[in-house]
Amino acid sequence: MVTAGKGVILAMGVFMLAGAQASGVSAPVNERTMALWARSCALCHIDGNAGAPRVGQAKEWGPRLAQGRETLLKHTVEGLNSMPPLGYCMACERDDFLAMIDFMTASLAAAPAGDKP
Ligand code: HEC
Repeated sequence: MVTAGKGVILAMGVFMLAGAQASGVSAPVNERTMALWARSCALCHIDGNAGAPRVGQAKEWGPRLAQGRETLLKHTVEGLNSMPPLGYCMACERDDFLAMIDFMTASLAAAPAGDKP
């Protein structure tokens, strides 16, 4: 479980970065969202388990982001191949998912203008 511990610490560091970057942009990345993300999405999206795009990895998110946020949100809610419906987060709301998507793609250039749902 040493690896999992490191992952969580890494994630906390990334949260702070993302929080700073995301202020004033689209859905807020707040503590609630980050706590939920750490509990559910982090499991796969830190190490890329089952082929999940890794948090902040521009190359892995680029083509996905090009689908538009609405599609990413739909795939998060409905699932996509090994991506489970709701990403195992039953407590998450629409805004949480949007904030999580923004957070995971935070190192990328801003999403195309007018793409907001
Ligand atoms: C059990 C592992 C797992 C968990 C937990 C998980 N994901 Fe994923 N996720 C994946 C995998 C695998 C893919 C790639 C699916 C594919 O393209 O075949 C993916 C893809 C995605 C995508 C891109 C979808 C697209 O259209 O390309 C988004 C957005 C996403 N996940 C969000 C989340 C969020 C938000 C959470 C937490 C609420 C989460 N995931 C939890 C495994 C997971």
